[in-house]
Amino acid sequence: MGNSKASSYYDYIIVGSGIAGLYTALLAKEQGNVAILTKGSIDDCNTKYAQGGVAAAIGKNDSPELHFKDTIAAGDGLCDEEAVRILVNEAPARIADLVHFGVPFDTLDGEIALTMEAAHSVPRILHAGGDATGEHIETTLSNKVRSSKIQVLEHCLATEILIEKGQVSGVRALDCRTGSIEEFGCRFLILATGGAGQLYKFTTNSEIATGDGIALAFNAGAEIVDMEFFQFHPTALRLPGVTPFLISEAVRGEGGVLCNVEGRRFMPDYAPEGDLATRDVVARSILHEMKKTGSDRVFIDATHLPPHVITTRFPHIYRFCLDHGLDITKGLIPVAPAAHYLMGGIKTNSWGETNIAGLFACGETACTGVHGANRLASNSMLEVVVFSKRIIEKTGTAGEARTPTTGKGMDVHSSLSHREFPAAVPTPSLSLLQQLHWDKVGIIRNKTGLTEAANILAAWQKSLPQPVDRPSYELNNLILTGRLVVEAALIREESRGAHFHSDFPKTLPEWQRHIIFTKTGG
Ligand code: SIN
Repeated sequence: MGNSKASSYYDYIIVGSGIAGLYTALLAKEQGNVAILTKGSIDDCNTKYAQGGVAAAIGKNDSPELHFKDTIAAGDGLCDEEAVRILVNEAPARIADLVHFGVPFDTLDGEIALTMEAAHSVPRILHAGGDATGEHIETTLSNKVRSSKIQVLEHCLATEILIEKGQVSGVRALDCRTGSIEEFGCRFLILATGGAGQLYKFTTNSEIATGDGIALAFNAGAEIVDMEFFQFHPTALRLPGVTPFLISEAVRGEGGVLCNVEGRRFMPDYAPEGDLATRDVVARSILHEMKKTGSDRVFIDATHLPPHVITTRFPHIYRFCLDHGLDITKGLIPVAPAAHYLMGGIKTNSWGETNIAGLFACGETACTGVHGANRLASNSMLEVVVFSKRIIEKTGTAGEARTPTTGKGMDVHSSLSHREFPAAVPTPSLSLLQQLHWDKVGIIRNKTGLTEAANILAAWQKSLPQPVDRPSYELNNLILTGRLVVEAALIREESRGAHFHSDFPKTLPEWQRHIIFTKTGG
């Protein structure tokens, strides 16, 4: 299929080996030869830490219509309704595919077991291994990839998208072990690189989440959208010296309740839905409560649940906490919010296509429009399987034809603005970047803090030397991704979903539109 000056040529090159990359590769191999480029090993990914599960309307009292309503409500006016319809309608078929691939979803009385998570009207979340859903899906898919003809190029970091006559022709990549640069040609390039949680000091994401796909796509001329919407998971374990570890929302779904440092339940003071309000609401409420009580944490109390429910439904959480001296069947779980999921990303249409011919994106690096301003719990892995499948359908039938992405006429188009550099800027480093984002671009933002962050990031971007290895490329990618988050947050002078701007605390109808960045401003 085609020729290239590159050293190897594939029909499909997929960048990233999380669930999005593996699943897409397994479907793509039916239509051509496939390579996965991954900067670490095939097992390094973010999705394997997903505990909660996959949402799908397969229960008796459920329907795609109800799932649609819940997704739209969480998205706070910014979901793409067509994309959400596709998501909820295609969910049951994609779950059947995962079962066919061998994913061992948990069962109850012979039926797939469903649990509750925040802002879902009914129990709708499929899980595997109790609280190890991501890991089970990842293992099932990676075993299949290993026994297939898919070529997996490990320790290979994509550094540049190659484009000829407006069409993707391949990708340039760094061999992280030798430092050499190689080019790979392809017909279709699919970015599945995950999120950018490493922007923040406290994150549930693994160290691979450095915004690589967004930086690659932006530098190639792709549209990047909704970057101001970064979801903070309300409940990551907060223990001194312990990296934040996700305490699944399903713990509250099964009956766990939040209480403050004085032992008082507080969520009913903030939202009628109480502990199961949407994530943005719970995260902000926790922040208020921590401030009010002068503490850096609140607690989940699950001690009233029968111990076997905790040990069988949440074996990973139970074991992790026990290893850190905490028996959660008997004691409260200290938690605080942590950066968790980027709703924005590379703008795609409902077939995963970007505005560049031959370039596709799926998973957290993409923005299909299903999450709007705030993602409904457990819709992310569903989005992966639904839209990855559509990419493969599209590339199988439509050849090189491309439907351009569509933006509503009212959307804001921008490039990264020029900024005044502050007089003295510290040398950029990952830890300074993470502290800056945590302090100035967190759950609650304001104009002063955002402007300060924007100026520092712009100065850092200008001062960075040419990257030469994985850490320096990742820092470059994070700084660019961070700039997109901050500039979008400055432009959006309102509060909506996960973006709470204390200078503009109201949601404004005139802001029911998207902010889209391109290198040239579009
Ligand atoms: C969780 O288990 O709380 C996280 C699942 C998700 O982010 O959807």
